[in-house]
Amino acid sequence: MRKQIAAANWKMNCTFQQGEKLLDDILSAEIELASHQLAIFAVPYPYLLMTRSEVEEEQNYYVAAQNCHDKKFGAYTGEVSAAMLHSMNVNYCVIGHSERREYNGETNAMLADKVNLCFENFITPLFCCGEPLNIREAGTQNDYVAVQLKESLFHLPADKIKNIVIAYEPIWAIGTGKTASTEQAQEIHQYLRSVIAGQYGEAVANEIPILYGGSVKANNAKELFSCADVDGGLVGGASLVAADFIEIIKALK
Ligand code: PGA
Repeated sequence: MRKQIAAANWKMNCTFQQGEKLLDDILSAEIELASHQLAIFAVPYPYLLMTRSEVEEEQNYYVAAQNCHDKKFGAYTGEVSAAMLHSMNVNYCVIGHSERREYNGETNAMLADKVNLCFENFITPLFCCGEPLNIREAGTQNDYVAVQLKESLFHLPADKIKNIVIAYEPIWAIGTGKTASTEQAQEIHQYLRSVIAGQYGEAVANEIPILYGGSVKANNAKELFSCADVDGGLVGGASLVAADFIEIIKALK
């Protein structure tokens, strides 16, 4: 079975102490993950080591960074490279979240560089795509997300892209309490998989987990994750409440 993933995206929330407590509370639920199930915590950079040491004894629990820089190293004050993350045993990194695309001007071309640096450093990118509201209203969301995949990922050889994780996050659903319906989620996830299959073949497309993100909550996770092409979620707000994220992990197929 394809990997099923509950990924927490803390964004710029929690003090260090609150973060530690949140992790302790979630881990104390002792949810046993099957071999195809993963729980990943994308935490602020200063919390990576603490999070790694919290999860490293746990089966299939991982830490992720929320970003890395698009250059290898050098005079980029305040930035963090993929090589630095690798040197801290961080194995996952969120790439191209819509908030970074919007507030930090991240382009599809820059994200292609970040994806390459992740792979060079043995880090699995959690690559985000998704359309804004005006594109959804115009009905052109499929073309929009296909371009995001093509321009940032389709230079990769099959043996690299098959290891990526994709998160489809419609921007109109992020932090708004509006969730895509299961039909909307399944339709576009299936479409994304077909675009990958068109480029790399069915076998590769069938291996890639495609997570849904955008107001995933404890009470809608099970329904969303039940869709054939939805392989879990990238969760913001609800990942900050231990009881909610526990339910979301339990909702994985
Ligand atoms: P949300 O955020 O769950 O708060 O909508 C999702 C995300 O931005 O990854």
